[in-house]
Amino acid sequence: MDAIVALCKRRGFIFQSSEIYGGYNGFFDFGPLGVELKKNIKDAWWKDMVHRRADIEGLDSSIIMSPKIWVASGHVGGFSDPMVDCKVSKMRYRADQFFFAPVRVNNETIGYISILEDGKMQAEAEAAAEKMKRKGGHQGELGPIELKDYTEADPSEYELIPSPATGEPGSLTPPREFNLMFETKVGALSDSSDVAYLRPETAQGIFANYRNVVDTGRVKIPFGIAQIGKAFRNEITPKNFIFRSREFEQMEIEYFISPEADWEAIHQDWIACCQNWLLSIGLPEEMLGRDVHEKLAHYARACTDITFEFPFGKQELWGIAARSNFDLTQHAEHSGKPMEIFDEAAKKKYIPHVIEPSLGVDRLLLALLTAAYTEDEVGGEKRSLMKFHPRIAPYKVAVLPLLKNKPELVERAHGIYEKLQKRYNTFWDASGAIGRRYRRMDEIGTPWCVTIDFDTIEKDGTVTLRDRDTTEQKRVTEEELYTLLDASLH
Ligand code: GAP
Repeated sequence: MDAIVALCKRRGFIFQSSEIYGGYNGFFDFGPLGVELKKNIKDAWWKDMVHRRADIEGLDSSIIMSPKIWVASGHVGGFSDPMVDCKVSKMRYRADQFFFAPVRVNNETIGYISILEDGKMQAEAEAAAEKMKRKGGHQGELGPIELKDYTEADPSEYELIPSPATGEPGSLTPPREFNLMFETKVGALSDSSDVAYLRPETAQGIFANYRNVVDTGRVKIPFGIAQIGKAFRNEITPKNFIFRSREFEQMEIEYFISPEADWEAIHQDWIACCQNWLLSIGLPEEMLGRDVHEKLAHYARACTDITFEFPFGKQELWGIAARSNFDLTQHAEHSGKPMEIFDEAAKKKYIPHVIEPSLGVDRLLLALLTAAYTEDEVGGEKRSLMKFHPRIAPYKVAVLPLLKNKPELVERAHGIYEKLQKRYNTFWDASGAIGRRYRRMDEIGTPWCVTIDFDTIEKDGTVTLRDRDTTEQKRVTEEELYTLLDASLH
């Protein structure tokens, strides 16, 4: 993870937001390479999920919508996480990600240990218990350490559990629900009636526009509405770089189906479709997994996450939920507008049910960075490279004249660069040793380098094409170059 974060900063992929003022927790800025990577991810998703499918339409709804939407969707009432505060350090934690256990020696409690959730917390908790026993000079058998999260603590235990910040008990508050929506004010007057929210998901903008799409388009069941856009959550503990941030982008689809359709089969089809798409843009199968939710939200019939092996453990990447007709029914009730659709084929009117694949752009970007990051050796020298799929790579190709001080080489190379640039994001690099220039391109994940040398201008016009992953070089004509680049980008 450290290597990825360092590379992101060094090469201009991702910066901490407001860095010159010491940063701003949970917010990030995407630099020249990061913005290309992000755009390529969104373009690939849009092309495959919207343009290449006859049953899905696009949408771009506003970020700030009527607060009534968030009342109807249940977000005002219930979009919250449990939190716990340390009154001494002023630190705040997610109560369900903060674990504790009594330490027992010979069945007698000698104190409590606490630990923040991570993959190794059981081992770390056992080591901490051992240390407590040793330090206190207790003799006897240490009991098993049974970790529970703070929401499961008995009120009598709040005073006994040590704060992760100070290591001392007595400063933790009871767990409280914390609504994750950011509030803002709309309009010149400022009173409680002007409160609005920055959307915490793009999905509600889809439900709010469902009627418009049905009335103005030529959709028929089953069909989907797709949207890409910013979402905001006042996460209690933003962490793991861009994995959980307070401002992020989502790519969501609401796929509307008949209430009588075999929703389980359609749900499974969507899970497979999402997994195949991830494979197609370069995530390796062995890093993907599934998490079938057992605990479901009251409106959900099923939810499966596609997970990814991040450097900090296996975590949710893409949630695919079967949400019944909960949202449309809520909006029908709260807005008083009908949400039924007339199904021509079935000759029936109903409120459709939905399958909802919901993916975070930033989280996918982190997964792609993780999967692409590679270290190997070339000619006895260590190199780090990003093995991005060509569709995702910020630059598709780089053009390098072999020597900077030979005008005829530079001129010919620049002519090729100008032609390539019209079709692909192309990098121009004329300075430095050729090996160093290749290495620079490897590190930002450019799949191909095209070198123009004396054979190009004096012999047959062919150029040297170098492959990033294998470092193999071959001579190709300009025609062959375009064919290869076009084929790799689809
Ligand atoms: N409309 C359903 C919905 O929003 P979610 O599981 O809360 O469901 C969907 O979010 C996806 O959005 C997640 O799988 C993840 O990829 C991304 N996501 C959610 N919260 C995020 C955060 N704080 N930072 C980055 N990505 C996030």
